[in-house]
Amino acid sequence: MKSKILKICAEKGFLLERELFDVLCGLGEEDALGVVGVLIDLSEEKVITKRLYDENLGKFVGLVDGKKVEGVKVLSDINFKSSKIENGDFISYFRSRFEFLRGLLVKRGFNNLSSIRRLGVNSGVYTIVAMISGKRITKSKNLLIEIEDLTGRSVVLVNRENKELFERAQNLVLDDIVGFRVSGSSKMLFANDFIFPEAKLGKERFGDVDEFVAFSGDFHVGSRMFLEDRVLKFVDWLNGEVGNERQRAIAKKVGYLFLVGDNIDGVGIYPGQEKFLKIKSCRAQYRKLEEILRKIRKDVLIVMCPGQNDAVWLGEPQAAISDKWAPGLVGMENLFLVSNPCEVEIGSGFRVLMYHGASINGFIAEMPKLRGVKVSKIMEEILRRRHLAPIYGIMDYIPRKEKDDLVIESVPDIFVVGDRHRAEVESYNNVLMVSTSCWQSITPFEERVGNKPDPCKVPLFNLKTREVKIVDFSDSEIKWDEGDDLICKLEGCDNENCD
Ligand SMILES: [Fe+2]
Repeated sequence: MKSKILKICAEKGFLLERELFDVLCGLGEEDALGVVGVLIDLSEEKVITKRLYDENLGKFVGLVDGKKVEGVKVLSDINFKSSKIENGDFISYFRSRFEFLRGLLVKRGFNNLSSIRRLGVNSGVYTIVAMISGKRITKSKNLLIEIEDLTGRSVVLVNRENKELFERAQNLVLDDIVGFRVSGSSKMLFANDFIFPEAKLGKERFGDVDEFVAFSGDFHVGSRMFLEDRVLKFVDWLNGEVGNERQRAIAKKVGYLFLVGDNIDGVGIYPGQEKFLKIKSCRAQYRKLEEILRKIRKDVLIVMCPGQNDAVWLGEPQAAISDKWAPGLVGMENLFLVSNPCEVEIGSGFRVLMYHGASINGFIAEMPKLRGVKVSKIMEEILRRRHLAPIYGIMDYIPRKEKDDLVIESVPDIFVVGDRHRAEVESYNNVLMVSTSCWQSITPFEERVGNKPDPCKVPLFNLKTREVKIVDFSDSEIKWDEGDDLICKLEGCDNENCD
C-alpha cells in the first residue's frame, strides 16, 4: 500500500509530508488511496501536508471518520486548545467545581441553608455547603475542620463523643465538598451531621440486546513482563477460536471492549525503566499493540483511553492518544481513542465512565481505612464525592477555566478503572463498578511496594441480563466461575440451561 500511495503522488507531481504519510499508512488501503485523491485535488502546494488533511477532515467522512458514528457515542471527550495556564485558571477551576457540587447538594432541599458570611452571632441550626481546607485533632481529641465557601471561612468541631460521626468525619479529605448540618454561630460551629454529593441511580439499566462488554487495559506493551501469549489467547477467544463450546458462544456475543489505559509501558516513565523494556520506543510499542488489536474481529468496538504510561501528557485530564505516536491506531476502523477520563454511551443508552485511576494511590495515602481494601471500596469513595480526584496535589492535573473535567457530572451506569492490575466487579447505588486486570506479570516495583497484580482476567458484563463473568486467561485452559447462568440464548449451544 505504501508504494501505491507514493506512486499516485509521484504520477501527479506531488510530495507527501512524512507525518501525513504515517497517518495514511494507518488507514485501510482503499481509504488511504481515497484520501490521497481528495488531497491532491485540494492541495495548492506541491507538498501535501498533514495540516491540509486536518483542515479537511470533514471531507473524508466514510473514509476516515464516518466509521465512528454507530455503536459508541463519545459524550465527554477532552479536546484541549494549547494555551498558557495562569493563576486565574486555578481559581476558575475550583470555583466551577464548587458551584457544580454545591448545586447537587442544595437540590436535597436543606433547612436553614446558609453561606458562611450570613451565619449570625446568635446561635442557631444551619446547613452550609463548604470545601474542607484543613483538618486536625485538638488537645481534647476532638476533630477540628476548617471550611470555606465562596463567602468566607469558618471552623466546625466534631465531638469525639459522637462516635459514629467522628469516625466518618475522620475520612473527610482536603478539598472535599460536603453539606454540613451544624449548630452554633459564626464564631464556632458544631457538626451534627454531614453529607456527600453522592452518586445514585434510581434503578439499574437493562439493555435490549443480548451482548457483552469486556473490560481490560494495562497491557504495558513493550515491557519485558508483557504477557503477549496470554493476550493472544484472549484475542483468539474473542474471535471464537478457543475455549469450550459455551465459552466460544459467549465470546461471539462480545460487542464492546474497553481498554482503560497503560496500553503501552512507555519510555522514561520511571528511572531505570529501560532495563525492563523489550521495545524501547513508544511508536514501536504502539505498533506492536496495533498488530495485536488488528487481530480482533472488526465488529468488536474498542474504546481506549490513555493512562500514566501512555505517550500523552501526565496531567489529567489526558487527551486521547494521537497520530503523532500511534498513526496506525488512529486509522483503525473499530477503535475509538478517547481522553482520560471520558464518558461514552454504548448499546441501549448505557453510560460508561472510564478513568485510568491515577488518583487511587492518593486516596489510599490520605485515607488509612482504604489500605489493603478492594478497589471497589475506593471507587465508592470516588462516586460518593462525585469527583475522580478531589484532593489537590494527589496527582498532576491541568486546570481548565471552563470546568473541572474530573467532576462526575452525571451518574454513569458503569464506572470502570484500571491502574490497580486487579479485576473486580461490584455494584454501588445501582452503578456497576469494574476494576480491570492487566497483561503484565509482577514488576520489580510492585514487588518492592507489596502490590500483588492479578493478571489475565477479563470481566464481562451482559447488557441485557446484567450477568457478570470474570474470564481467566492466565492458564492454557480458559477458566471462569460457572455460577448461575443467566445468559440469554446461545446460538449453537447444546447446554440445557440455555433457553
Ligand atoms: Fe498499569
